[in-house]
Amino acid sequence: ASLPALPLPTRAQTAAAAPLLPAGTPRLPADFVWGASTSAYQIEGAVTEGGRKPSIWDVFAHTPGRIADGTTGDVACDHYHRYADDVALMGDLGFQAYRFSLAWPRVMPEGTGPVNAAGLDFYDRLVDSLLARGIQPMACLYHWDLPQALQERGGWRNRDIAHWFADYATAAIGRLGDRVKPWAMLNEPSVHAIFGHGFGNHAPGLTGWDSYVKAQHHLNLAQGTGIAAARALRADLKLGTVLSLQPIFPASQDPADIAAAARFDACWNTINLDPLFHGRYPDLFAEDFAPLVKPGDLETIRAPIDFLGVNYYGPSYIKHDPNAFLGQASWGALPPNTPQTLLGWPISAQGMVDVLARLRDAYGNPPVFITENGACYEDPAPVDGVVQDPARTEYIRAHLVAAGQAIAQGCALKGYYVWSLLDNFEWAEGERRRFGVVRVDFASQQRTPKASGLYLSQLMKAARAGA
Ligand code: NOJ
Repeated sequence: ASLPALPLPTRAQTAAAAPLLPAGTPRLPADFVWGASTSAYQIEGAVTEGGRKPSIWDVFAHTPGRIADGTTGDVACDHYHRYADDVALMGDLGFQAYRFSLAWPRVMPEGTGPVNAAGLDFYDRLVDSLLARGIQPMACLYHWDLPQALQERGGWRNRDIAHWFADYATAAIGRLGDRVKPWAMLNEPSVHAIFGHGFGNHAPGLTGWDSYVKAQHHLNLAQGTGIAAARALRADLKLGTVLSLQPIFPASQDPADIAAAARFDACWNTINLDPLFHGRYPDLFAEDFAPLVKPGDLETIRAPIDFLGVNYYGPSYIKHDPNAFLGQASWGALPPNTPQTLLGWPISAQGMVDVLARLRDAYGNPPVFITENGACYEDPAPVDGVVQDPARTEYIRAHLVAAGQAIAQGCALKGYYVWSLLDNFEWAEGERRRFGVVRVDFASQQRTPKASGLYLSQLMKAARAGA
């Protein structure tokens, strides 16, 4: 009640945001869910409070040379202390839904064993404040912050993790499942396996094919044991998982690049999709996985889900690279004049339609939420209380048009969560790379809506008013 209200944008600030969806573009349905996304390590801070113990990201970020700007998640957006203000801001902007993740090392500081009630209390308060503002929570159980204690027992290379994860899921959902209905098991398992366990540029910093394959299979298995544990708890949950999906193109028409792109597609996309929806590993890598796959594993992984979360940013252009650990495939040059964000990621809203069409045509058209979509750009300092970010605004606009097109083409797309609510700790890039629709000044912790956030706010308020 003592929170300052978000100042309404002035007419000039509103005009500075991009125009509403142009007339004639496909409309999003009245029940389309509009949300924002974050993750625990990227925003919470308070890494030693409330009984939390270190995660693999605490250890990694504190290792010199790992994070481009030397920052860590020790404070990040200080959301652990400021969650009430952040929820109020979301409510004022008009978000209907919010996807966040739980930090496993808050809930079970040792990874297994005793549940830390104080850790769950934080999420309890967060959920209650979201519900009080009419914002639907979607909780993700694992967004890359494994308890370090489990890493010391092999982490994702240890098959036992499928049981550790199920116990953690039981503790979290047991406490919050009366109020939180959509639960996502894992965030982007293929990205966690590839970057964290193959390239080594993400925590836990492991390299090579062997740890990559083990991590990937055990991530898939944990998704299945997590779903089973959750189903056993309550009948009214909506259970799913979140994948990063991309169109993969060869960087040239050289047959070696074409073959490399097919292998990369298998490792990025179908290594998760095929076991989940068809109960098998993609042919290209089935032999690599076979020694790890025990009887019953594929049935476990294939347990039906209620929704799929898709994180979509853009396509990749892949070349043959004999030195690349990942199936001798790595990123090649973009076609000339390809639009890209500050990170060099190519932009293609059509690619989002293509990814959703692939789910429609090859994977039974499951109900889908875009659980992340957004863009990194260099933002100017606020002027008159607003950060002008026209490129990010245009990126979001184009992808919302794509969302409407996908629905018009029969895809079961149910909602869109922008990445991210706040500028935050962008993993190996640190705080220097910003994706928020709200600016965070990390020194003062001040939040300032960007024009992209005000643009989304206009759209969400219009959608709510039935406009
Ligand atoms: C996907 C990840 O889930 C999220 O944590 C990350 O910040 C965004 N991509 C942007 O890189």
